Amino acid sequence: MNIAELTVKSLRAHGGEAWPHYRDALIAACRKAPPPFGTRVYGEIYRDAATDPCWMALSLITNAEGEGEGSRHLWDLAACTPDARVAAQVRAHAIDESRHSRAYVAMLNLAFPGVVDDEHHAQLTTLSPGYTQRSPLEPHEGSPYASPITLDDLIQMNIAEIRTLVHHLLQRPVLLGYCAPERRRRLARLLDALRLDEIGHIAYTAALIDEFARSGEAGVVKRLMQERMSDFNAITNQDLGRNVFESV
Ligand SMILES: [Fe+2]
Ligand SMILES: [Fe+2]
Repeated sequence: MNIAELTVKSLRAHGGEAWPHYRDALIAACRKAPPPFGTRVYGEIYRDAATDPCWMALSLITNAEGEGEGSRHLWDLAACTPDARVAAQVRAHAIDESRHSRAYVAMLNLAFPGVVDDEHHAQLTTLSPGYTQRSPLEPHEGSPYASPITLDDLIQMNIAEIRTLVHHLLQRPVLLGYCAPERRRRLARLLDALRLDEIGHIAYTAALIDEFARSGEAGVVKRLMQERMSDFNAITNQDLGRNVFESV
């Protein structure tokens, strides 16, 4: 899987052609530091692990946890970002991830009904902060994420969202395979919505990164994209050693 190509193609529906600086920086970064999550071996390791239904169910819970945690971090960033336009986008992103956390619990119930009892189900739903448009936009006390969003944050978020999209693509056929035919349509609808949201997250961060590049920081964008891609690759390789496939 060519990650830069997959990303550029996915962004077409969002007007991605308008972000040439972002595209060039991504292509250069993938060339200099090829992401392990784009390799054939990575997909094989995923599919191999996913043959175990317990692993698959647990991985959905890990995803619910990751989405919930990511949502809280984004909320803090949004609350501390003075640019109202950018803050609104990050806040909307936090609300999406909060919803995704619940969606993973719903997908667990659809693919593996009865695997969690009511009490545990109630616990799992608390993994999501449950943000809505009406939630007060305030940072959590002492949060390391309580600061205005930076170009570096956007680049790291962008790369993490691309990896999430790849995980989503790997997960989809396996999960549908586990699901009973009468529940498969509902599961597919949830998966479709999730994929569109994740592409939306890649898109708005890409657009903001491109804005930075156009305002005179094209060199910084290129350098940081490569640096963060290479940092992220090291994290991905560590995760792979533990059979962890995170999503945000
Ligand atoms: Fe996301
Ligand atoms: Fe998500």
